[in-house]
Amino acid sequence: MIMTKFNPNYIITMKDIVREGDPILRKVIDEVSLPPSKDDKETLQCMLQFLKNSQDPQLAAKYKLRSGVGLSANQIGLNKRMFVAYIVDEKGEHEYMLINPKIVSHSVSMIYLPQGEGCLSVDRQEIGYVPRYERIRVKAWNEDGNEVMIKLSGYQAIVFQHEIDHLNGIMFYDHINSENPLQLPENVDIKSL
Ligand code: NI
Repeated sequence: MIMTKFNPNYIITMKDIVREGDPILRKVIDEVSLPPSKDDKETLQCMLQFLKNSQDPQLAAKYKLRSGVGLSANQIGLNKRMFVAYIVDEKGEHEYMLINPKIVSHSVSMIYLPQGEGCLSVDRQEIGYVPRYERIRVKAWNEDGNEVMIKLSGYQAIVFQHEIDHLNGIMFYDHINSENPLQLPENVDIKSL
C-alpha cells in the first residue's frame, strides 16, 4: 500500500508548495473518488495544519512559512480536486476541508479586495483588482464523504473562488484587467470589500 507523503506527522513547508510555471497549476484538476480514501483525508488534514501553522507567528517563523488562508491540493503537486481554507475573523475560526467543490449559484453583485490578492504559489506582488462574486453557494463533499452545501459572502467567498479557480487552472491575476490593473469591470455592481 502506498502511503501519502502528506501523512499526519508531515509538516508542509514552502518547499512543498508548487510555484507558478509548474503545469499542474494550469490544468483542470481531476475529481476525487468518493468516499475519500484515508490518504485523501490525511492529506486534507495536513494541508489545513499548514494554514494554521502559517498564521501562527511563532510556527511561521520557525518553519519560514508565508501566511495563507487557502490551499488547493494541486499547490502541493497533487492532481486531486480538493482544497482547504482557514479564516479567522470577528465571528471566530472558519475551517474547511472540501472535495470536488462546485459553485452552484452566485450573486450578480461583485466585490474585490482593495489590496489585491496574493497566492502562496506566486512569489511576487501582482497589483490589480480581482473581481469576485459577492455571494456564492458551493456544493462539495467534506472529509467524511458527506455532501455539504455552503453559503459564503465577502472575504470567505473571495477565498473560495480563488481556491476553486486553482482547481480549474486559473490564477488570480488572470482576472486583472491587463490594460489597467485598477480598472473595474463596467456595467457591473462591484464594490470594495
Ligand atoms: Ni493561490
